[in-house]
Amino acid sequence: MRAKIIGTGSYLPEKIASNDDLSTLMDTSDEWIKSRTGICERHLVSSETENTLSMAVNAGKAALADANLTPEEVDLIIVATVSSDFITPSTACMVQRELGAFHAAAFDINAACSGFLFALNTVDAYFQAGIYQTALIIGVETLSKIIDWNDRSTCVLFGDGAGAAVLQASEDGIIASLQGSNGAGANVLMCKSRSNNNPYISTDTNPDYLYMNGQEVFKFAVKKEPECIQEILAQTGLAPTDITWYLLHQANYRIISSIAKKLKLPLDKFPSNVDRCGNTSAASIPILLDEVHRAGKLTKGDLLLLSGFGAGLTWGAALLRW
Ligand code: COA
Repeated sequence: MRAKIIGTGSYLPEKIASNDDLSTLMDTSDEWIKSRTGICERHLVSSETENTLSMAVNAGKAALADANLTPEEVDLIIVATVSSDFITPSTACMVQRELGAFHAAAFDINAACSGFLFALNTVDAYFQAGIYQTALIIGVETLSKIIDWNDRSTCVLFGDGAGAAVLQASEDGIIASLQGSNGAGANVLMCKSRSNNNPYISTDTNPDYLYMNGQEVFKFAVKKEPECIQEILAQTGLAPTDITWYLLHQANYRIISSIAKKLKLPLDKFPSNVDRCGNTSAASIPILLDEVHRAGKLTKGDLLLLSGFGAGLTWGAALLRW
């Protein structure tokens, strides 16, 4: 049995910050941000009660409603995030509590922007092994709390939000998936954890924020993601034109355009919301999937290719039948 998506959901904070709004806070401009990334605005949490857990719960509830399932019917919850509210317990365990999904095993995955794809692949492996039958996976990020708001080269790129999918063991669904990592590239995109404050170490107590070497990440993305897509197509013998929709990680519209060009495909096969959401890391693919689904653009039998890349470095892809 393979994993089939039977419901999707998402949540975006109400507060929207446009490029012009940011240009009143720092030395940047709508022209600079838009021309380099395609981003026009992003959603940002704006109250104490709106956080990684609340966004995950909202997206999860919407996905369960879409799948017409109750929380008790879920036997696995995986949350992909790099911006949990707590170091422990996992966001997934807190989501389980909030939803009342008490029959589920729950844990988090950290694979940065590839996290949702790693979660999907993990669920598919569990289903193939016959261990679980119904899963809820959520990609959620409050990146606004880990980015350095004094670093204009990174803070304008990211947004907050959550996306979720309910998966059921089925004869069809995922056709192929792959994931990869290269820790040798760890230092191009990283965010250090809290410093050690034990009595034997003199600590630097400055908060650590996200660091990114933008140009290195850009080079990695435009090389690795098309390779990853070509590899998964080769596994299945499908041609690029056979795919109905490419749902890619929404980091930068220039990266998406470059991938479309490499695959010799028109851009209208690549739905995008990076203009409205910015880069929401692990949440980006499931938010886009939910938007495309709710806009009525998915028909039973469509072939979807999901692919992304992120810190780690990590990358992944999944090819599935809707
Ligand atoms: N507003 C105005 N100017 C800015 C700016 C901002 N927000 N951020 C940086 N600049 C300036 C820089 O200081 C630099 O000025 P200088 O030439 O005087 O030193 C100039 O703009 C060009 O910076 P550069 O880094 O060369 O821009 P770029 O064309 O490489 O674009 C990114 C920067 C970040 C948009 C691009 O590298 C990128 O998209 N990388 C991939 C990032 C990504 O996808 N990350 C997520 C991975 S999951």
